[in-house]
Amino acid sequence: MERASGPAKFAVFQLHKSVGITILLLMLLRIAWKLRRRPLPLKADGWERALATAVHLAFYLLLLAMPLSGWLVVSASRVAVPTLLYGTVPLPHVPVVISLAAETREGWYRGSASVHSYLSYGLYVLIGLHVAGALKHHFLDRDGSFARMAPGIRPGSLLDPRLLLIGAAASSAAVFGFGWARGRNVHRPVQSVEATPPRPATPVQQARQETYEQAAAAAPDAPVAAEDVPSWTIEDGSSLSFSTSWAGEPIEGGFRRFRGSIEFSPDQLDRSSVAITVDIGTVYTGDSSRDETLKGGEWFAVGTDRNAVFRAERFRSVGRGRYVAEGTLRMKGATAPLSMPFTLQINGNRALVEGSAVVDRLAYRIGEGEYASTAEIPADVTVRIRVEARRR
Ligand code: HEM
Ligand code: HEM
Repeated sequence: MERASGPAKFAVFQLHKSVGITILLLMLLRIAWKLRRRPLPLKADGWERALATAVHLAFYLLLLAMPLSGWLVVSASRVAVPTLLYGTVPLPHVPVVISLAAETREGWYRGSASVHSYLSYGLYVLIGLHVAGALKHHFLDRDGSFARMAPGIRPGSLLDPRLLLIGAAASSAAVFGFGWARGRNVHRPVQSVEATPPRPATPVQQARQETYEQAAAAAPDAPVAAEDVPSWTIEDGSSLSFSTSWAGEPIEGGFRRFRGSIEFSPDQLDRSSVAITVDIGTVYTGDSSRDETLKGGEWFAVGTDRNAVFRAERFRSVGRGRYVAEGTLRMKGATAPLSMPFTLQINGNRALVEGSAVVDRLAYRIGEGEYASTAEIPADVTVRIRVEARRR
């Protein structure tokens, strides 16, 4: 659960909370049942009886305290993540906790999170003792205690189907758990852009064919450049990537398709202009299910507007082939200023532009609802552009 990332993490936490609350309800039923019926006496004496009683009592306490502390963690968290049990029943936050002042709440959050974490170790110890005790009574004492949980099982029997089934269930749960955790590791977000599948050539070639007029049509009020400022065509090998993180884990991604019109000359900065149109529907982050989520309404909402447009008409030289483009970025219906420092190397008819800028995703509502919180996903996203261009 802790190792998962992206939307998988969200889903697995929801499952955790659903199962945990189910355990809480089952415990309440169990206690009500136990109060009405006198339990059978334990088949043990002396210290063994005391230990068994203590373990059983501790189980009751822990199996109530675990879900309650978990519920407190969720309610006191700064990130108001809604819980839908099994995807259907909404779980409200603990009322008093959500109305506390931010600092007090933070205290409750930390407190309940460490209680929840430490008690789980207690639970492992109890399960170890408990199963060892059950097996001792089954194989050594052969007193039929086991049959009180698995009716019909013969004391001391090794090949009883119920015993095998419990063993098989426990080992498959363990194998599945470890396998899943390892699998998640393998599919961890790629650490470098190179590790993502190569960009298909066609969109870039398409971008190369892009004329200024076409880009201007995509960006209606694009500036009209002076005739004598050289215009550049974006070539293969250009890329637009970004870096962010999810719960501290780096995520590298990018956009496969973008096109643009570049009218630029270092000698005529005042007459230069750039308009880059990015097809945000081509977002990739090295995880296809996450990429699908990113196209949805809470993220890039590509259904409403597929294009993000960066436009700059003001350029400053900051020395030795370094410039800053002052422009605006329009994305998901919002427009905000963006300055992009970049380096430019011109070699004959070829040019290489490399720039990067920090974009505040929240200015564009990229990540709405629970994703608007910056606890797991920072607001600042570093965007890098590398353009290989040819003079027309
Ligand atoms: C018997 C029931 C439960 C058990 C055995 C259990 C067990 C655990 C364990 C072992 C962890 C990892 C702790 C760690 O970070 O070291 C955890 C984390 C967590 N659990 Fe539970 N849990 C239970 C019920 C619940 C419930 C009912 C909720 C919420 C409604 C919940 C919410 C959480 C949350 C939010 C975390 C992450 C805490 C953090 O980030 O520090 N749990 N749980
Ligand atoms: C291989 C796994 C397990 C085996 C073989 C097993 C076996 C047993 C047996 C034979 C009893 C009956 C004791 C009696 O009637 O005198 C019992 C009771 C109990 N078990 Fe388990 N158990 C297992 C797993 C667990 C787990 C994982 C939990 C909790 C997380 C648990 C919680 C309890 C509790 C609370 C009782 C006492 C019930 C009561 O007296 O009200 N057991 N178990």
